[in-house]
Amino acid sequence: MRVVVIGAGVIGLSTALCIHQRYHSDLQPLDMKVYADRFTPHTTTDVAAGLIQPYVSPPEDPQEMDWNQQTFDYLLSQIHSPTADKMGLALISGYNLFREAVPDPVWKDIVLGFRKLTPRELDMFPDYGYGWFNTSLILDGRTYLKWLTERLTERGVQFFLRKVASLEEVARGGVDVIINCTGVWAGALQPDPLLQPGRGQVIQVEAPWMKHFIITHDPERGIYKTPYIIPGSQTVTLGGTFQLGNWTELIDTQDHDAIWEGCCRLEPTLKNARLVGVRAGFRPVRPQIRLERDRLPGGPADTEVIHNYGHGGQGITIHWGCALEATKLFGKILEERKLSRTPPSHL
Ligand SMILES: Cc1cc2nc3c(=O)[nH]c(=O)nc-3n(C[C@H](O)[C@H](O)[C@H](O)COP(=O)(O)OP(=O)(O)OC[C@H]3O[C@@H](n4cnc5c(N)ncnc54)[C@H](O)[C@@H]3O)c2cc1C
Ligand SMILES: *[C@@H]1O[C@H](CO)[C@@H](O)[C@H](O)[C@H]1NC(C)=O
Ligand SMILES: *[C@@H]1O[C@H](CO)[C@@H](O)[C@H](O)[C@H]1NC(C)=O
Ligand SMILES: *[C@@H]1O[C@H](CO)[C@@H](O)[C@H](O)[C@H]1NC(C)=O
Repeated sequence: MRVVVIGAGVIGLSTALCIHQRYHSDLQPLDMKVYADRFTPHTTTDVAAGLIQPYVSPPEDPQEMDWNQQTFDYLLSQIHSPTADKMGLALISGYNLFREAVPDPVWKDIVLGFRKLTPRELDMFPDYGYGWFNTSLILDGRTYLKWLTERLTERGVQFFLRKVASLEEVARGGVDVIINCTGVWAGALQPDPLLQPGRGQVIQVEAPWMKHFIITHDPERGIYKTPYIIPGSQTVTLGGTFQLGNWTELIDTQDHDAIWEGCCRLEPTLKNARLVGVRAGFRPVRPQIRLERDRLPGGPADTEVIHNYGHGGQGITIHWGCALEATKLFGKILEERKLSRTPPSHL
């Protein structure tokens, strides 16, 4: 069985690993290759802070809540093993702040210890009048991609730096299944008017005293357009911007100043932090994740395609649930192919 995975971000590599773990065996070897024109540290996944954090508003597709839960449970099950450190996984607690009272989020039972802030806690944030505290997880994108790459390499999966111009081109090379995890660039292979870039610029600083995430919300302005501070294992990520439809990868000084001022107002000690990086990336925004089977006609047998893209601002949060779902679809293809190859019965 020849399988090509397009994309080496968190979605491509985790889907590749999940399928390989489940379906590769001596009896039925999978010949799996990963094609991508960007590898770590140049993917969108490398820009993400990696906080496991579903959107505050409920998803259009209720399945997405299940995939979030599956990802959280999977990661939490790893947290007490030495592997967690190698994956870039850790527990993290912190604050979500609002100016006024809002309904509880749909994920309040997924995360640990969800509660509302007390008046004394709110005193620390003079601009805000309401908030939540809880414990969640952080999965550092860059460390995780490195870990996934090592696991796949051990299993004999090969990596190729190449830009795929069309799915047909890959299919012509003789491939049974193509797994399409091209993130925000998916539209270049097959136009998808529903997919848009949600540009995010961030500042990375050294501030080892920051132990909690602080995320502010303004329902009128929209998600991730107001200041957030997310401590990672090496650096602290400051945001945020969310510019829909904007493909500017260059760093914008106005955005930079707005992020810096907003975060320093929220957490004045950051004024002493050393700046270590500025990055911009594109969240693959889509009303719903596209996770489904498709078929490329032509050749002796049709090439099957599994799409897994459009994870917006929560690709890390939801990745493992999506990988499990893609693996289920892969299993169905295997079953059908086995059936179609069984010689006709003579009974
Ligand atoms: C500023 C910012 C902060 C974020 N913070 C968080 C966060 O805290 N938590 C969270 O869960 N999410 C966060 N996200 C969202 C998260 O980064 C994305 O949802 C996730 O990284 C998407 O992963 P992906 O694998 O689909 O895409 P990518 O990481 O972009 O990978 C896409 C891959 O496809 C390849 N590719 C595309 N087209 C082709 C082609 N034609 N030929 C060959 N290869 C191709 C690319 O080379 C690349 O390897 C953030 C995003 C941004 C921008
Ligand atoms: C709680 O965890 C959720 C998700 O796991 C995260 O999105 C959110 O930022 C956290 N919120 C609070 C207040 O802790
Ligand atoms: C791959 O997915 C992208 C979206 O990520 C989509 O635009 C593209 O059409 C898909 N490619 C193929 C070959 O189906
Ligand atoms: C895209 O974002 C950049 C940086 O914020 C900004 O300078 C530019 O004007 C935006 N372009 C469009 C078309 O919105």
